[in-house]
Amino acid sequence: MRVHLPALTLSTALLLTGTQALASPELAQKKACLACHQMDAKVVGPAYKDVAKKYKGQKGAEAKLIEKVLKGGKGSWGEVPMPANPQVTEAEAKQLVSWILSLK
Ligand code: HEC
Repeated sequence: MRVHLPALTLSTALLLTGTQALASPELAQKKACLACHQMDAKVVGPAYKDVAKKYKGQKGAEAKLIEKVLKGGKGSWGEVPMPANPQVTEAEAKQLVSWILSLK
């Protein structure tokens, strides 16, 4: 019997890399977050480690930050606004924010 398994495997692999197979740092790179953010140093936006420190142990911080990543905003770190990031889905924003908040 002929089974078209190789083709199926290939498209499944493509599907996975297209969605959630990226580790968070790579996702941040791919979504251009790192154009304005670094782990350890302020660039245009705050260092991700500083973000983690600021919100450590705060209830509701994750939801607030997900919304901010998606819609943009200013005032938490200064007057320079973060633009909205329509290139990220809500699931990607959640992945990025939980990764940022886990940094030490
Ligand atoms: C054009 C520059 C720019 C890009 C691109 C950018 N940011 Fe920001 N980001 C900023 C600035 C500026 C701030 C500070 C905003 C403020 O003071 O409230 C910020 C703040 C943040 C914060 C903290 C928000 C708060 O209220 O404390 C998080 C989390 C964050 N960014 C994540 C991301 C992620 C994830 C991406 C990629 C999807 C991203 N940023 C892309 C400029 C950027």
